[in-house]
Amino acid sequence: MIESIVIPTIINIFNLCKTTNNMKNHFNRRKFLQYSGMAGTAALLPGNAISKSEPLFPENEIGLSKFELETPSLCLDLDIMESNLKKVHENLQGTGIGVRPHTKTHKCPAIAKMQMDAGAIGICTAKLSESQVMLENGISEVLMTGVNISSSKIRKAMQLRKRHSGFIQAVDNKQNARDLQDAAKEAGIIADVVVDLDVIRRSGVPTGLPALELAQLVDQLSNLRFKGILAYDGGAQHIKGYQKRLERTVQTFEPVSATYESMIQSGLNVEIFSGAGTGTYNMMGDVPGFTDVQVGSYLFMDTQYMVIGSKGNENLYDDFDPSLTVLATVINNNHPNRLITDSGAKSLSINKPSGMVIGEPGFSYNAGSDEYGTVTFEKANRAYKTGDLLEIIVPHCDPVVNLYDRIYGIRKGKVESILPIMARGHSR
Ligand SMILES: Cc1ncc(COP(=O)(O)O)c(C=O)c1O
Repeated sequence: MIESIVIPTIINIFNLCKTTNNMKNHFNRRKFLQYSGMAGTAALLPGNAISKSEPLFPENEIGLSKFELETPSLCLDLDIMESNLKKVHENLQGTGIGVRPHTKTHKCPAIAKMQMDAGAIGICTAKLSESQVMLENGISEVLMTGVNISSSKIRKAMQLRKRHSGFIQAVDNKQNARDLQDAAKEAGIIADVVVDLDVIRRSGVPTGLPALELAQLVDQLSNLRFKGILAYDGGAQHIKGYQKRLERTVQTFEPVSATYESMIQSGLNVEIFSGAGTGTYNMMGDVPGFTDVQVGSYLFMDTQYMVIGSKGNENLYDDFDPSLTVLATVINNNHPNRLITDSGAKSLSINKPSGMVIGEPGFSYNAGSDEYGTVTFEKANRAYKTGDLLEIIVPHCDPVVNLYDRIYGIRKGKVESILPIMARGHSR
């Protein structure tokens, strides 16, 4: 990894040097060596200048009160998360539907392991690099819901599949299937493939005949094995009101179910029929052949989900409870009815509705500034001074997690574990 960064850097500088020479603008050799040496050192030893001094943020924070952590810090209430982990299985009991959690939410193999231990049938990933992190860190059943299009990614995906037999890849067009076939053949494997159906005009093959023909093609290609279909309606998840979400879901799944039926009729083996997220996970019981839900946010929750309402509560989505918070420090209270914190867009994301300050329902939190949060209010439950902490339920869990290196696992207010977000930034 480090080598791959350093070598191109030196080659680039060398090429730059050659070009400059050609232009008769002499680039002196000593300077070049200095320059390339600098680049190499910087890449090989990041933070070299401070590596000999005491670390600013010591690793050993286990046992600290969460309020002793430096902020902004991403905290996970383990009791609440474990309860969410159980609830999804309890709520689906008797439906025959399995849970294949989407790990794009947490990007953390340690949490994926907890999901598997709680009864998940596998996990989902969005990207190839995320898939690699999961597969190489103890998770063997990984379904990548996104497609790989470039030939280099396709080859890498098939190489990954060669090393990990539990890797399943999505496909949504015929050329992509043929490219996967070639790469699988080159790798000497038979790769498991699912066909992604287009339900929200984002990705996927159109339902009906195009989907059937793609599934048949996959089935016929000698180095691919057709495993089933994906149908994730991202547009339904955050619709406010259970009934409205249900109506939309029923509507979405009409053509999806007809497509599934045509595949069964044509003799295809549809082992996987996967979809749904936290907003619709409990609406799939009547969909024939449906096998599993790809819930992600259920584990952490966020304000975007809290406001959609549940089956039993139109005002608050209470199937799962918020377990993920950011701790922020008040750094300025100069102005009345206004507090400034150290947690802006780089700590909380700018999704709406914005973060919710625990214990202060009247606070409005604006994370629009990169490094600063601005809290405005008519009335506060107490007086705030600089150095005070605010605990904020995050606006949208997925992008917030992607801003941090670690999640503090908190139990009864103390740090019990530190969970590295190993696939953080792995967006390729
Ligand atoms: C394909 C797919 N499946 C599942 C999910 C998980 O959805 P949620 O976090 O709403 O449960 C997502 C989220 O964006 C997704 O893109």
